[in-house]
Amino acid sequence: MDKNSRIYIAGHRGMVGSAIWSHLNDLGFHQLIGWSHEELDLTDREKTLEAIMQANPDVVIIAAARVGGIGANSRLPVEFLNDNIRIQLNILEAAHKINVKKLLYLGSSCIYPKFAQQPIKEEELLNGALEETNIGYAIAKISGVINLKSYRSEYGHRWISAMPTNLYGPNDSYDLETSHVLPALIRKFHDAKVEGSEVVTLWGDGSPLREFLHVDDLAKACVFLLDNYDSDSHINVGFGKEISIKELASIISRIVGFVGTIEWDTSRPNGTPRKLMDSSKINSLGWKPEIELEVGIADTYEEFKSSLNS
Ligand SMILES: NC(=O)c1ccc[n+]([C@@H]2O[C@H](COP(=O)([O-])OP(=O)(O)OC[C@H]3O[C@@H](n4cnc5c(N)ncnc54)[C@H](OP(=O)(O)O)[C@@H]3O)[C@@H](O)[C@H]2O)c1
Repeated sequence: MDKNSRIYIAGHRGMVGSAIWSHLNDLGFHQLIGWSHEELDLTDREKTLEAIMQANPDVVIIAAARVGGIGANSRLPVEFLNDNIRIQLNILEAAHKINVKKLLYLGSSCIYPKFAQQPIKEEELLNGALEETNIGYAIAKISGVINLKSYRSEYGHRWISAMPTNLYGPNDSYDLETSHVLPALIRKFHDAKVEGSEVVTLWGDGSPLREFLHVDDLAKACVFLLDNYDSDSHINVGFGKEISIKELASIISRIVGFVGTIEWDTSRPNGTPRKLMDSSKINSLGWKPEIELEVGIADTYEEFKSSLNS
């Protein structure tokens, strides 16, 4: 991408959008465009079309979405389905009208079937039933992937979509109502340490296997893909190594300095048993993650603590 490109990052205040913004800024891109949720509600079609068409970006990155963990997804299935479909439909429609040359849509590993063959290749999409706990969100993300492909085939837009694995890092949500597993564990162990609690109770039995990618690695992958990828197939962006939730809890409790006991509430859902993406496609193009899990979590915990003081 040209350093003078006008780049619109939808969701630039979120964890992913802010990491992409900082990375582009560090690389010398100086025409970055973003509106906060308060400034522009992307579910509002008229306002979204008007804002994007007026800004007339050369590149669009869709990192805006209603995002949350199992709890939030099961409480608000209508919002997770409808808002996400609306957000992406509106942005894609605007980008189509002004003939945006480069566009990156961010989906999620939850587009894949609950019992997808592991590690999950891009071809596993629509090969089986989805995990029920976040099915609305997954269907919305799948519709985004199909929409991208359709814009490519029908109108020739060379837009691409990437499916990141579970992410963590600066600007994550630590609200236990909406957060994902890794930041939720940081919050729970931190609160327990501060309050002097002897026991931390976690959902499920700790057996599910997951991979976690630092959001700064994802930001580099996004820019790499915009420069080097042009295909109608979505592409996985993962860390390449998996870890059980039990092991993850043990690492985080150690980093946080929690010395009590961890109990598992097996009446709560585990979610998908195993989710490791096959990222060989992006790896073979030349991108690889750089931040090791324990180093990334330790940095994230420092950032979490300083956000409490600010
Ligand atoms: N986090 C992960 O582990 C993960 C993993 C894989 C894929 N992804 C994908 O990465 C993308 C970004 O996720 P994230 O983790 O960065 O989420 P995030 O931190 O919640 O950021 C999402 C951003 O979108 C904004 N947004 C939501 N609804 C909006 C609306 N109606 N109008 C305008 N802005 C709106 C949010 O603003 P408000 O907060 O003000 O609502 C927020 O700034 C999503 O597509 C997600 O599926 C994330």
